[in-house]
Amino acid sequence: MKILITGGCGFMGSNFIRYVLEQYPDYSVINLDALTYAGNPENLKSVENDPRYTFVKGNITDEKFVQSVMEQGIDVIINYAAETHVDRSISDPKAFILTDVLGTYTLLEAARTFQTPRYIQISTDEVYGSIEEGVFTEESPFLPNSPYAASKASGDMLCRAYVQTYGLPIIVTHSCNFYGPYQYPEKVIPLFITNLIEGKKVPLYGDGKNVREWIYTEDHCNAICMLLEKGVLGEVYTIGTGYEIPNVDLTMKLLEYAGCDTDMIEYVKDRPGHDRRYALDSSKLRALGWAPKYSFEEGLERTVQWYKDNSEWWKKIKSGEYKEYYQRQYEKR
Ligand code: TYD
Repeated sequence: MKILITGGCGFMGSNFIRYVLEQYPDYSVINLDALTYAGNPENLKSVENDPRYTFVKGNITDEKFVQSVMEQGIDVIINYAAETHVDRSISDPKAFILTDVLGTYTLLEAARTFQTPRYIQISTDEVYGSIEEGVFTEESPFLPNSPYAASKASGDMLCRAYVQTYGLPIIVTHSCNFYGPYQYPEKVIPLFITNLIEGKKVPLYGDGKNVREWIYTEDHCNAICMLLEKGVLGEVYTIGTGYEIPNVDLTMKLLEYAGCDTDMIEYVKDRPGHDRRYALDSSKLRALGWAPKYSFEEGLERTVQWYKDNSEWWKKIKSGEYKEYYQRQYEKR
């Protein structure tokens, strides 16, 4: 099976590529990545000499380029390519519209032209908005609150339309928050871990009581593999673990792993439009036989250890081109 992974140099895409090449000797992967700020070919150093792995640099919004890659004969497209950071979407929404909406459209058109047998869209629970109590299901309405969530919801709606209109074999997935090795240190878990290792405070937004549900990267990889094998085409699946935690409690765990006190927490001005809580009902996926392998504590311990062992990787990022981003002054709450 030849899989086209878009955004394969990013956090989730690179984890998936390593996972698939390790677990499935018959699979080969083409990684199409634009190498924007969060795409890092170093994430795939361990597989770059694998004959089943090919990297091509290009943008998913570039129709001609995407078509040229498709000509190689693709059995599955998995669209990991996305702008994903909510705070960046607040300051620069356009990049999100281009990649997450136009990019999805371009891939869907390519899948239509080449009659690709399977397409998996990687998306987020954020499309459903915020939920104070209970859980979102695959039937919940889209009520996105950030430009990021709106751009992903738009791409997902295009997927739905391509199923209904053209009968394309698409599976859309909405996942809870990912974490694990190689996550770009702008997201809360790697940002806080690396700040604490550097002896810096951690900027906790608002009252810190916003709740997120978390999935360890490897568990997300095996969920996608299960959908590749058993997922029903044309269907939507939510991917969640049930590991819900308020940000402040997550922060306490990270402080404990780092051996730091609560005075390392800096309560800062809240994110505008900050969703209070996300939570998913994943019984549809679990009915296929999937369950997470890692408890939240296990996943978090592994993640902390990875960042401790790989400081060269993240120090290069935090002190390089995006230094200003990491040194931004947060307004106190
Ligand atoms: P984030 O990792 O940006 O993921 P998302 O917004 O997609 O859920 O943020 C996770 C939670 O952590 C979210 O409630 C916002 C909060 N947060 C902070 O409190 N401080 C930070 O510096 C960041 C980046 C996030």
